[in-house]
Amino acid sequence: MTANPSPAHRWIRWPAGDTSPRLGYGADYNPEQWPREVWKDDIRLMREAGVNIVSLAIFSWARLQPTADSWDFGWLDEVMDLLHAGGIAVDLATATASPPPWLTALHPEILPVTRTGETLWPGARQHWRPTSPVFRTHALRLVEELASRYANHSALAAWHVSNELGCHNVYDYSDDAARAFRIWLRERYGTLDALNHAWGTAFWSQHYSDWEQLLPPRLAASHPNPTQQLDFKRFSSDALRDHLRAERAVLSQITPDVPVTTNFMVMGETRGMDYASWAGDVDFVSNDHYVHPGPQGLDELSFSANLVSGIAGHRPWYLMEHSTSAVNWQHVNQAKLPGELARDSLLHVGHGADTVAFFQWRQSAAGAEKYHSAMVPHAGPDSEVFRAVTALGRTLQALAPVAGSTRKPARAGIVFDWDSWWTAEHDSHPTALLRYRQEALDWYSAFLALGVRADVVPTGTDFSGYDVLVAPVLHVVPTELAECLREFVETGGHLVTTYFSGIVDQHDHVHLGGHPGALRDLLGIRIEEFAPLPEGTEVRLDNGNRATLWTDAVTVTAPDVLTLARYADGPQTGRPALTRRAVGTGSAAYVSTRLGPEQLCGVLAQLLVAAGVDSELPEAARGRVDLTVRQNGGADFWFLANRTDAPVPLPGVEGELLAASAEPDHQAGTVVLPPRAVAVLRRPRSAA
Ligand code: GLA
Ligand code: GLA
Repeated sequence: MTANPSPAHRWIRWPAGDTSPRLGYGADYNPEQWPREVWKDDIRLMREAGVNIVSLAIFSWARLQPTADSWDFGWLDEVMDLLHAGGIAVDLATATASPPPWLTALHPEILPVTRTGETLWPGARQHWRPTSPVFRTHALRLVEELASRYANHSALAAWHVSNELGCHNVYDYSDDAARAFRIWLRERYGTLDALNHAWGTAFWSQHYSDWEQLLPPRLAASHPNPTQQLDFKRFSSDALRDHLRAERAVLSQITPDVPVTTNFMVMGETRGMDYASWAGDVDFVSNDHYVHPGPQGLDELSFSANLVSGIAGHRPWYLMEHSTSAVNWQHVNQAKLPGELARDSLLHVGHGADTVAFFQWRQSAAGAEKYHSAMVPHAGPDSEVFRAVTALGRTLQALAPVAGSTRKPARAGIVFDWDSWWTAEHDSHPTALLRYRQEALDWYSAFLALGVRADVVPTGTDFSGYDVLVAPVLHVVPTELAECLREFVETGGHLVTTYFSGIVDQHDHVHLGGHPGALRDLLGIRIEEFAPLPEGTEVRLDNGNRATLWTDAVTVTAPDVLTLARYADGPQTGRPALTRRAVGTGSAAYVSTRLGPEQLCGVLAQLLVAAGVDSELPEAARGRVDLTVRQNGGADFWFLANRTDAPVPLPGVEGELLAASAEPDHQAGTVVLPPRAVAVLRRPRSAA
């Protein structure tokens, strides 16, 4: 396995002379939306809230370069100076996220084109083609101007490349994209023969005889070639990363000592960017996260933050955006309950965030995001939100000793793989109902319910430190990955995988001879036919579980395979549904159907017993408290987040209370965590 590029890790450059450990606290700051008089008030309130860093100029291109050949930096100079005088550092954006009207009027050829051939017009934001040479030239010119102007400004703490690269423009099907895609394909395959083989073009008369014939998967008469689709996804992620690299190259030349980052979007269903492959291109990882309310909303926050930490190699990262309360872009935008603002923030800190920032500082009075919450809401500083913001600022100050500590690896890991995500959900598959991330999240929810810590780690991670590895719907398994999993099991690791795993190689070609091809021998099973279930139907297993989405016609092929449960009705009646094969001191287990988070608990508990992995939490807290642990040379920091709306006792949990978002109660010597509260305990460092 090729390891993921590891981030070099250069952290925020705090203002000279100030080396005391601290966590960052701040927001996106958009002063251009407000008259000058407000700016001084902003700085005063930021200080009151404990803000020490802001992201600036993210959407300022039109203000900084009002026309093709005029610049206006005066206002930004003033804001930079004001912030610096207020002791607030700046994560300065390169301002290239949203091209100004003069640029799109002059060069409409930078506008992205959808799969169906429609142009994405200006009027919103991020209306640029990642592969447009014209856009690139203009963007880099702006980067150069900004970098030269602020190179020596004392407030400059980090560079923020563009913003949420690919949020709205990840898939562009324009002629620029087609040209760049051809170059990418040439680099990947070298020859047309290799490409024709990889794409399986013998099928449906798709053989290519000239590179010029190759196109992005535009709207077609029927199912577009699956490998073409997969490669276009890989290419589109790489094209955005290429933009990041281009901006970074300019910055590194002018300000070699200033760290560079860009905000990833590891959250919800944002899937276009393979961030594991971007980690080496930033000095520190940053992420944006918004909660999607619902039964697994909080699990999803924890899952995403956890994966960010995995991408960051467990080193500290920067939470660039989350919300103080409601967002404006969901179907119904729910306000946060008291306590949730701090809990959500501190969950990220537990997962390794050393800076906590919000979108945005002051809630807009106009524009598409005027109903999105902020640190200073429409109501002004005399508000619940601002009081909660200020309280969080104090909590983060008390947590200064945590700064620079790394996240303590868990004994269990969940493997997350972008290729599998992209490929498993392609059209023309056994079912259109499969959701890759949901299956991974369900396993994570099961870990949370059992109170057992698990890391979410991208493929390419060194798995050798884990005792248990869950690889849900690991659909794309090239030979090296199969080897790596075999070695994991043979050296005593316990692997669990599920339906539709191990099916294809890196070109999306089926491993022949029976499923799950690449993992068949390791699991000691063979499947001749997939048997997905119709929507809304379920079948029973003989352990009482109810299964949906998928079943497999499993045959056991190795004598040492244990059948843990069988299908009790439906077409697979009597066949194995859950199997486990002991391999030396390790094991390889298979779950052939979708069980959902509650039922997975039972399955997981059984497997964890076999692996000797137990919860670190007292019984009373399991499922109700999300435990994350950070560590430095001297101490472990236990972040205990109450996931519920009721108090949770923590009998037997000891440590020095470093900080809490709400003061814990004490009942007969037992610490009781208030509803939705987070407490952080410092404890003597224990072995890994
Ligand atoms: C994204 C963007 C911000 C803002 C927020 C709103 O994360 O980066 O500019 O639009 O969403 O949630
Ligand atoms: C996407 C992003 C959010 C936000 C919205 C705005 O959903 O994930 O962060 O930017 O777009 O429309």
